[in-house]
Amino acid sequence: SADPKELLELASRLAAEAGRVLVEDRPRDLGVASTKSSPTDIVTVMDQRSEKLIVAGILAERPDDGILGEEGASREGTSGVRWVIDPIDGTVNYLYELPMWCVSIGVEVDGVAVAGVVEVPMLRETFTALRGHGAWRNGEPIRARSAQSGGGGGGEGEGAGEPVPLERALVATGFGYAAQRRAVQGRIVADLLPRVRDIRRGGSAAIDLCSVACGRVDGYYERGTNPWDIAAGGLIVEEAGGRIGGLRGTAASVEMTVAAAPGLFEVLCEYLEGCGADRDS
Ligand code: IPD
Repeated sequence: SADPKELLELASRLAAEAGRVLVEDRPRDLGVASTKSSPTDIVTVMDQRSEKLIVAGILAERPDDGILGEEGASREGTSGVRWVIDPIDGTVNYLYELPMWCVSIGVEVDGVAVAGVVEVPMLRETFTALRGHGAWRNGEPIRARSAQSGGGGGGEGEGAGEPVPLERALVATGFGYAAQRRAVQGRIVADLLPRVRDIRRGGSAAIDLCSVACGRVDGYYERGTNPWDIAAGGLIVEEAGGRIGGLRGTAASVEMTVAAAPGLFEVLCEYLEGCGADRDS
């Protein structure tokens, strides 16, 4: 069976286990095990260990499920359930012992995200979402609402759609690993910076999405996100009442991922469309 609640329980248990191993067993002399697309795109032995642990945990209970993992785990499955895993999102932070890294596990049934968990061990935070039921931080409901839309409450719908002007928006972003893409991303950030409250580059796309979901930033955008970066965080944003998508009404993809409080989403998309943020030159 594919009860989303049970899938979320398993995802949460495995993310917590992986998080524990990543904290407790982190070698003192952790180095880069290999690089992927470019010298900045790193893998540590701990990425690989985390992915192995999670995949083994899934297959022990659900041998017919499909899997897609950042470090190469990939299997088709026959059950209609697919697990999309980032064993360490924010690997560079992990390598440098910055606390902004996480384990991200999203679960899809017939191609639709139904459950997601983002475990952030160093911040002792677990973000979860269940399609149709909400999103939570350490079990407390969260809402994607801008600090700009007034009130301190956080009640359902409160301030939800009030427009957030770009100049009052705190916007998170991320950069790809390829130098050419980074050059373009740098130009866009330079153009955006004088127009917004400020910019954050946290170093983990999944945490950036959770930050949108709980109102710690107003918006987030990044070109070049992979499915495992956004599988869990995307559902967490939606279930927290935020919006996630690509430009010109498309779905979030490797082309562009934009997530924001409802009042900012369109403003941010329009700006990014206007400056060609989904181009590489
Ligand atoms: C990276 C992080 C980073 C984002 C990159 C991702 P990784 O994931 O999420 O914030 O800017 O696009 O690749 O490589 O640490 O799993």
